[in-house]
Amino acid sequence: MSTAEALHPAGDRARVEPPADPDAVVPAAASVDLHRVAEPAVTLDRLPGRDLAPAELLELVAAVAADPERWEAHVAFGEGGRRHYALLHRDAHVDVWVLCWVPENDTGWHDHDISSGAVAVTRGLLVEHNLAVGAGSTGVPTPVPGGRAFSFGPDHIHRLTGLAPASVSIHAYSPPLWRMGQYTLRGGVLRRRSVSYADELRPLD
Ligand SMILES: [Fe+2]
Repeated sequence: MSTAEALHPAGDRARVEPPADPDAVVPAAASVDLHRVAEPAVTLDRLPGRDLAPAELLELVAAVAADPERWEAHVAFGEGGRRHYALLHRDAHVDVWVLCWVPENDTGWHDHDISSGAVAVTRGLLVEHNLAVGAGSTGVPTPVPGGRAFSFGPDHIHRLTGLAPASVSIHAYSPPLWRMGQYTLRGGVLRRRSVSYADELRPLD
């Protein structure tokens, strides 16, 4: 079985119709099956030349996830807690990354400044944590297994951690990441620090 077949197993291939509101997001708790996004309208070969809405970013990460030739060669796993990642595409409107995870990997709490985003987990298992007052430093955790995707707007604050060894995910952001907010939580006090997208996100506390 090819990787694409493994990612898109035979079965229900009913297309997930784009929402009427392209700014609607698909939270991790309601993540979609990648194999149901069978005919994405937005792909790396069919970019509209403008900023993309969350629903379009979801289609884009589904399309890239279904095309392992675009990212498989970049899959590698860092040592000492470092995450391995590679930029697959960047233009004036969108950037696309492949990220590789081991269980000790942790982005720490962060936002994406003015960018919307989407994440497709192609293999393994990640956990998305949503910040919630009173929920403690792990927030509200939502496991996202391989074969599922979610999206978010620029208002989103989250933390991603690896759970299964050798997990891989595809991420797209529009407008492309430039600055990000990274948070520390000390004694219940949350503080934001502006960092460059080129800085590897990791917990600061
Ligand atoms: Fe993020």
